[in-house]
Amino acid sequence: MTSPFSEPRTIEWTGTAVKIIDQTILPGRLRYLELSSAEETADAIRTMKVRGAPAIGVVAALGVALSVRGRGGSSATESDAAKRALDAIELLRSTRPTAVNLAWALERMRGVVGKTKRSRTGGLKEALLSEALSIMEEDKRLCRRIGENGARLLRDGSTVLTHCNAGALATAGMGTALAVIYVAVSQGKKIRVIADETRPLLQGARLTAWELVAREIDVTVVCDSAAAWLMKQGKVDCVLVGADRVARNGDVANKIGSYSLAIVAKEHGIPFYVACPYSTIDESLPDGSSIPVEERGEEEIRLVAGKKVVPDKARVYNPAFDIVPHDYVAAIVTDRDVTTPPFEGKLGIAGG
Ligand code: MRU
Repeated sequence: MTSPFSEPRTIEWTGTAVKIIDQTILPGRLRYLELSSAEETADAIRTMKVRGAPAIGVVAALGVALSVRGRGGSSATESDAAKRALDAIELLRSTRPTAVNLAWALERMRGVVGKTKRSRTGGLKEALLSEALSIMEEDKRLCRRIGENGARLLRDGSTVLTHCNAGALATAGMGTALAVIYVAVSQGKKIRVIADETRPLLQGARLTAWELVAREIDVTVVCDSAAAWLMKQGKVDCVLVGADRVARNGDVANKIGSYSLAIVAKEHGIPFYVACPYSTIDESLPDGSSIPVEERGEEEIRLVAGKKVVPDKARVYNPAFDIVPHDYVAAIVTDRDVTTPPFEGKLGIAGG
């Protein structure tokens, strides 16, 4: 058995490449991929071989580090290298718009380019790698702290409903929402999990259930549309999800379906909790109204397991995220603490 405290290596730096798990083929196959350029990294993020807000930030930072290594990168002058890195930052930024962790990590990498440009030859290459690795190590620490801070919200015997995947696969560490569950379990609490399947890409059924089964945690997968009925029957004690971006007032962008879950949770008097690191809090946004919501390709809805399920002449619409208004959120667990409403002015920076 894998102990709930162990941190599977979902993202690794091999010395020449970024090693990730191909999340598009789980749970059927566990296949690792080695990404050895910024372009391959951008493609892996766009096609969701790696996904989840903190994970795409970490992998993008390593992608920038890759842009100045190998394939001519090593022999480039410092100003060529700086240009390559800045181009890589723009390429990676264009991959997915909603999770602010991606832009946050890329801004840290841009800061390194700015500071290191005129230093000795090779300095930028080392400085970029060192910053990317420190973003990765920091993410592991943040996950653990989120887990430790949030575990007190879960009573022994609780049943937690979660949506999408906010676990180890979505981070470099033990996850965010699932870290809360992993730490609670490691404290001896018996926790049952209900995982929404999370249409259209089934991150709940494929990824959350895979992680929980690997740790021998009791998990039941349900269709997204079953959640309200389970709540009505008293089968859910709390909802616990991750986040892709949180505005200053506590509005939360997360996987499509989070908003409806929050509404039905409130209707049934069930707390809706959010767990995320400080890098998910966008202090530039007063509220969620200007959070960009990614719209993904039609085929994600038109096809199920490769089979056509929608008539060609029907239109489809595939927003990947929605925004949960802050008044539906009972608490936001971060690496710093557990914040309860009102959130305004309280979602400060911790990290490190
Ligand atoms: O489209 P995805 O799979 O990247 O969406 C992921 C989510 O919505 C997660 O809940 C969020 O990124 C938090 S992951 C710790």
